[in-house]
Amino acid sequence: MSRHATQVGIVGAGPAGLLLGHLLHLNGIDSVIVENRSREYVIDRVRAGVLEQGTVDLMQAMGVDAGLQRSGLRHDGLYISFNGRRHRIDLAGLTGGKAITVYGQNEVVRDLIDARVGTGRPLYFDAKDVSVGDLDSTTPSVRFHHDGTDHDLRCDFIAACDGFHGICRPSIPDGVLTIYERLYQFGWLGILAEAPPSSDELVYTLHERGFALFSMRSPTVTRLYLQVPPDEPIEHWSDEAIWNEMLRRMTTRDGWTPNIGRIIQKSVTPMRSFVAAPMRHGRLFLAGDAAHIVPPTGAKGLNLAASDVLVLGRALKAFYERGRADWLDEYSDVCLRRVWKAQRFSWWMTSTLHRSPDETAFDHQRQIADLDYLTSSHAAMTSLAEQYVGLPMEVSFESVGL
Ligand code: APR
Ligand code: PHB
Repeated sequence: MSRHATQVGIVGAGPAGLLLGHLLHLNGIDSVIVENRSREYVIDRVRAGVLEQGTVDLMQAMGVDAGLQRSGLRHDGLYISFNGRRHRIDLAGLTGGKAITVYGQNEVVRDLIDARVGTGRPLYFDAKDVSVGDLDSTTPSVRFHHDGTDHDLRCDFIAACDGFHGICRPSIPDGVLTIYERLYQFGWLGILAEAPPSSDELVYTLHERGFALFSMRSPTVTRLYLQVPPDEPIEHWSDEAIWNEMLRRMTTRDGWTPNIGRIIQKSVTPMRSFVAAPMRHGRLFLAGDAAHIVPPTGAKGLNLAASDVLVLGRALKAFYERGRADWLDEYSDVCLRRVWKAQRFSWWMTSTLHRSPDETAFDHQRQIADLDYLTSSHAAMTSLAEQYVGLPMEVSFESVGL
């Protein structure tokens, strides 16, 4: 048994855990990151890829933006398409110059792992039987098995950054958390294709046959999504069937259509909205997907992980530098304000752009009217734009020493 101690034990090396580890490092706070998957698995896992302006600014302020500056694709606008017509929303023009950046989450994770390794601070991959305990004490523990050795890591605090399926949230005693959840009657079939993007900006489409989304990863790789039933087996979809359906839903009257190419990855993901509150129990703090899930239509998942980490970083810095515990106590409330606004936006984008099996003809006409209003009203477009590029972070970069 190897016994060791750290200030902050971080469970999970996704965007939340890695960003937090680096933010703490910049403030001279020690941490150990424990991840149950391999380095390759964590990097290769295909996820979303839209960074809000605030997430880009945060990564820049933290000095982990070299890859992002080199190959991130800045988008000043996006398209909403319905009734066969694309309508552009000028994100930058409507928000005083803010934009989003398309940069795959796997690239973000790769860059953050490199930064972590560069600090020389511990990061364990392939940890087995990870568990957390003594959450109510002043020395909570993270226990795990790594490379033939059992580890008992004593911490001042534990950051639960282990995603939706992690072990930290279920370790909180029954009755402490309130769970808010909404399941949707559809999922997304997503593909990566070797095809140059035929549009410089994202296209969100509501079609008679359901939702479709055009996105990209690089000048040579297109990323596309299609609404399907939530439990749809991917084997039901040949590459030819996927392209037929993509083109049918996305092609607009002016002839715009995605370029076709070899499909290099395909999968189906279910969609849910989920919040666990409060985002803290004793000395365990939930951050990112461990605390909340949004349906991907608003492109908020990674960005909420970043804003949680900023709030947690401020609280831990104030605790260690000034003995202040009040920001730790406020952590959950401060995070949840922004989380719920993103939940509302993601739910609205999802319900406005998808067709539900139980919708009525009235519901569908109302959706069309919603999109017609959205794309013709300056006020409505401004509202979408300010939420899409990201509502303000709740705390300042100065408060975390940036
Ligand atoms: N022990 C250690 N690590 C674990 C465990 C465990 N028992 N269970 C899960 N993990 C790891 C996962 O392998 C993953 O690397 O925790 C990490 C959680 O990372 P994410 O799921 O990426 O969650 P988060 O860092 O909160 O980032 C949120 O990720 O799911 C996307 O779309 C979501 O963009 C959002 C972002
Ligand atoms: C993506 O590029 O993967 C993407 C873009 C926008 C979304 C979701 C995913 O809303």
